[in-house]
Parts: sequence; structure tokens; C-alpha cells
Amino acid sequence: MGGTLTIDRKQFIQTAKAATGGKNVIAVVKNNAYNYGLEFSVKAFLEAGIHSFATTSMDEALEIRRISRDAMVFLMNPTYDFQTVRENGFHITLPSLEYYHEYREALSGISVHLEYAGLFNRSGFSTSEDMVEVINDAYSLPQHARVDITGIWTHFGYADELDMEEYEVERELWLTLLSDVLSTGHTFDYIHAQNSASFARDGLFNGHTHLRLGIALYGSRPYATLPAESYVQSMTLKAPIVQLRRLCANQKCGYGGSYQPENDTKIAVVDIGYGDGILRKRAEFDCMIDGKRYAIRALMMSHMIVEVDEDVTLDDEVIMYSNDLRIDEYTALGAGANSEQLGALNYNSLKKVILNDTNVYQ
Ligand SMILES: Cc1ncc(COP(=O)(O)O)c(C=O)c1O
Repeated sequence: MGGTLTIDRKQFIQTAKAATGGKNVIAVVKNNAYNYGLEFSVKAFLEAGIHSFATTSMDEALEIRRISRDAMVFLMNPTYDFQTVRENGFHITLPSLEYYHEYREALSGISVHLEYAGLFNRSGFSTSEDMVEVINDAYSLPQHARVDITGIWTHFGYADELDMEEYEVERELWLTLLSDVLSTGHTFDYIHAQNSASFARDGLFNGHTHLRLGIALYGSRPYATLPAESYVQSMTLKAPIVQLRRLCANQKCGYGGSYQPENDTKIAVVDIGYGDGILRKRAEFDCMIDGKRYAIRALMMSHMIVEVDEDVTLDDEVIMYSNDLRIDEYTALGAGANSEQLGALNYNSLKKVILNDTNVYQ
């Protein structure tokens, strides 16, 4: 049987709408839309009024294009498959001056967004001067031969770290660079920098056309001090109990006797494990059975041992995540980033149930 991942589609759409705060959003749908399912999520986001999408993968970009002919699809990783980009009208990142010079001809007519590396430094230009050089060079070419510079963007590496000062620094560096580039007179259709945490902290920056949101759209708080009511989680993960057993005091169970209760104890053997994507760090905390929290005592590939009481019966379901057992709650406890817990979930082994939906997914 194994675990079941249930998503309430109506709630998913409401959560996404609330997360946008009425602003234009590029939805980050990489990694199978944070494992909510790419096709499901793109269709639901379209219904929520979001028409721009960002991913790191060409396959995902093609899948988005199959779902929507009109959506703006932005490839955040540098790409070299210019033919597919052109055929599908994708927007792509322009990560450096070197890349521009190397692929200048191949880029003609393609929409690019200039990328600023900032303090995050994963990829992108380091200076406004290099960006201005690209802009000037493009204008020196006849229109049919030039790249189409439609966007400018960056990604903050410190927006989620409330206790670090670097966010203020990277924000200032970006805003200064942006103003330098805008002083050339070039205009952009897409100016986007902010992830969920940056938007929660600062609102949409002046002069920016879009937010570029991931985790908030999926109903997790980017940091724990935000109100949970504003980020309703539409996903539940549950698993059945395969056996209830009694252990005597000091009797061991699990691989290498990993669990050994001090007193006589009742345990539930649950049909879910790390093979289904439960992180070992997550299993250091609790689960919920019939509204009550119980400690997880051991995690195996396809099983979990939970210490239970007399209230628990074999037909009870064990909840690992729900709106009461929020992913972001375990992030705050140290189980791993929101996206790490979501990204680990095993799409092949978990049964998927979508509530309030009439779409058929491939
Ligand atoms: C480049 C980029 N932009 C935006 C996001 C969205 O960030 P968040 O999920 O914190 O909103 C990500 C997520 O990893 C990203 O890599």
C-alpha cells in the first residue's frame, strides 16, 4: 500500500493566489514543481492567474509549453540548444559577457534576461559595465541580427536568513546595478529579483515587474515567524499501519536494534520510510494519529516505527504532513529546508490523490 500524497487542488489555487499578493508572478516550477507535479501545478497556477513560469530544465520548459502556448517560460540555467529555445519562444538567462560573445549570432531574436550574480554568485554578470557592453553591442547590430534583451534578474542568497546581514548588502548591490543599467535608457519587460522570503520581507521592490516565487506558492512559509494562516498547505502525506506490536522493556527492534524502549511499549509499524522520501532528520520528530502527536522511533527504507498508546488501532492512518503538521514547522525544527523535504518525496512509490479536480494528468 505505502504512503499517499493528497493535494487539495482548490486549496492549492487559493494558496497560490494569496501568495502573489495581487502582484505579477513568475512561478518557479523546477524539480517537478517542488514535487507537487509539474502539469498539475502549471494548470493550477494558470487558473490562479499566473502566466509566467521559471525552471532549470529544458524538458520541463517543453512540458510547460505543451500545457500553455502563451505562457512566458524562462530557463534559469544557461542553455545552448538555441533551436529549441527559438522554436518554443522560451526566454533564457544571459549569464555572462563571455557567453554573449561566444553565442552572439546564435542568440539573434531570442529573448534573454541579463543575470546578475550578486553575493549569491551561482551564475551571472559581476558588473553593470559588462551588462551595458552587451546592451550597446546589441544596439550596434541591425534589428534582425540582435539578441532581444527583454529582462534583467538576480537571485538573493540571503533573503531566507533573517539573522544574517548580507541580505541588505545584496539587495543594495542589486538595486544600484539595476539603476546603472536602466540609466542607459534600455527598458525591460521583466525585472525580477525576489523569492518568497524577499517578498515577505520587503514587498515588491519599486520598478520591478514581477516576483519570482517558489515555496510560498506551494503553501510553506519561507521563515517561521510569518503567520501560518497566510500560507495554507494543500498537501497531506499519510500512511497506513501494517502492524501493532508490544515490546517489553529493553527489547530491541529495527536494524541494529536501533530502538530499545525503557518500559513496556506499544509500537505501530507504519508503511512508509526513507525510500518514499521521508528524511532521516524529519523522522527525529513526530507524526499524528487521530489528531494526537506520537514520536517516531525508527526509520527504515519502507517502514517506520512509532511509539503509540492504547488509543491507536490498526485502521488508523499515520499523518506525516498536513496543515497541522506543516512542512515549514519541521524546517524550523531543523528537518531540512522546505524544498528539501518536498524534493525528497518519492514520486514513484507514493500514491497520488488530487482532491477537487477534474483534470486528467499524464
Ligand atoms: C533562481 C531562483 N529563483 C527563485 C526561486 C524561488 O525561491 P523560493 O522557493 O524561496 O520562493 C528559486 C528557488 O530555489 C531559485 O533558484
